[in-house]
Amino acid sequence: DTHDPTSLRTPIVAVLGHVDHGKTSLLDKIRGSAVIEGEAGAITQHIGATAVPLDIISTIAGDLVDPDDFDLPGLLFIDTPGHHSFTTLRSRGGALADIAILVVDVNDGFQPQTLEALDILKRSQTPFIVAANKIDTVPGWSVNEDTPINDTYESQSDRVRQRLDEKLYEIIGNLSDEGFSADLYWRVQNFQRNVGVVPVSAMTGEGVPDLLTVMMGLSQRYMKEEMEIDVSGPGVGTVLEVKEEKGFGKTVDIVLYDGTIREDDTIVVGGQNDPIVTEVRALLQPRPLAEIRTESRFENVDEVGAAAGIKVAAPELGDAMAGAPVRVVRDRDLEDVIEEVQAELASIAVDTAEEGVVVKADTLGSLEAMADALDEAEVPIVRAEVGDVAPRDISVASTAEDPKQQVILGFNVDVLSDAEHRAETDDVTIFTDEVIYQLVEEYDEYVEGIEQ
Ligand code: GTP
Ligand code: MG
Repeated sequence: DTHDPTSLRTPIVAVLGHVDHGKTSLLDKIRGSAVIEGEAGAITQHIGATAVPLDIISTIAGDLVDPDDFDLPGLLFIDTPGHHSFTTLRSRGGALADIAILVVDVNDGFQPQTLEALDILKRSQTPFIVAANKIDTVPGWSVNEDTPINDTYESQSDRVRQRLDEKLYEIIGNLSDEGFSADLYWRVQNFQRNVGVVPVSAMTGEGVPDLLTVMMGLSQRYMKEEMEIDVSGPGVGTVLEVKEEKGFGKTVDIVLYDGTIREDDTIVVGGQNDPIVTEVRALLQPRPLAEIRTESRFENVDEVGAAAGIKVAAPELGDAMAGAPVRVVRDRDLEDVIEEVQAELASIAVDTAEEGVVVKADTLGSLEAMADALDEAEVPIVRAEVGDVAPRDISVASTAEDPKQQVILGFNVDVLSDAEHRAETDDVTIFTDEVIYQLVEEYDEYVEGIEQ
């Protein structure tokens, strides 16, 4: 192997799934195991992400992972804390998530956000595995903390094994209904063609060694070439969130997936109007747990390299959009970089028709997913924008001639109170939901009502 390992970046792993199915608990377990191994310092907490280096993964995975078999530096896990929209966040220039873990509660099975996550993974062709979580809740389960699944499975009674098998096959059946050929992970030969299901418990750690092993294997085997980056090149990333931060004003939380970003770098960020050109005032990381009591929650860093989650403080970020690209200019021509950002934004832009419904969504990613879903349902869109439902949206919707189009569909956004009043007087109907297909269904029902 001739590759310089420093030129391979950490794969970005998105952890997706329905509310309460155990995404955060799974990451907590991985972090906790590292703490128990006396390696807490080795895990770096990023903004919205956790980096777990290879040697820690191999410690947790025990016999299952030999670090010599790998040259990727580890895994960067991105939790998706209740933002449904986050699951749709994919950058254009490179996949934000290289691979994903879809967490499914074995008792609860497939739920709306599970389906939504699957739909997004399918569309973006992101390889993923399913963590069939909470196996410890199978009645009669006997716990073997932190052991590989095979060991704990063997130690269960026939009755318990049978119960677990039933739950797992139900999940495999659900996946098959959605068009994915799936099987228990130890039966999967080709993880690009088949989805591996890994039984785990985020509570007891059972199966977590297997989960890490499969993720590591999957990324090493199928992602390695995509992980080769110019480590010192100008940074490229995606905005996760735009946030007000005391003492810093509007900041953007980004995931950097290529190159580096430094203090004082000029950056171009996708905005609601024109691309924003600004200068990095501060790069902020969460403080290590030990220092959490100090006054500021963040510490300044001079530079970060991909892959990383980082908060960027810079002037003029008020118009920045979640889901938009971020690019460091460094020694390139500013105009070229602005063009790159514009091109990326244009590739996300939604095709609008002369007449149709108005669509609002909280991020570019979710706007795009909404547009896809409406396209499939053959619903034309007249205007599609990121942001809350505002009075001007009502004006646009109220000019539609067809009552079916005097409608605003809002995904994960609020309706401003002025807009609410205007909608009543102008006879505009607003639908809002936090699940895309439910929003489309509500609209369908509304149209059926009108047509009857
Ligand atoms: P959101 O961020 O709200 O989408 O939820 P989440 O998917 O992050 O779920 P979270 O990790 O917060 O877990 C939800 C609940 O399930 C908590 O009460 C956890 O303690 C519990 N839980 C998670 N994993 C397990 C598990 O493996 N076994 C058991 N018994 N409980 C679990
Ligand atoms: Mg959570």
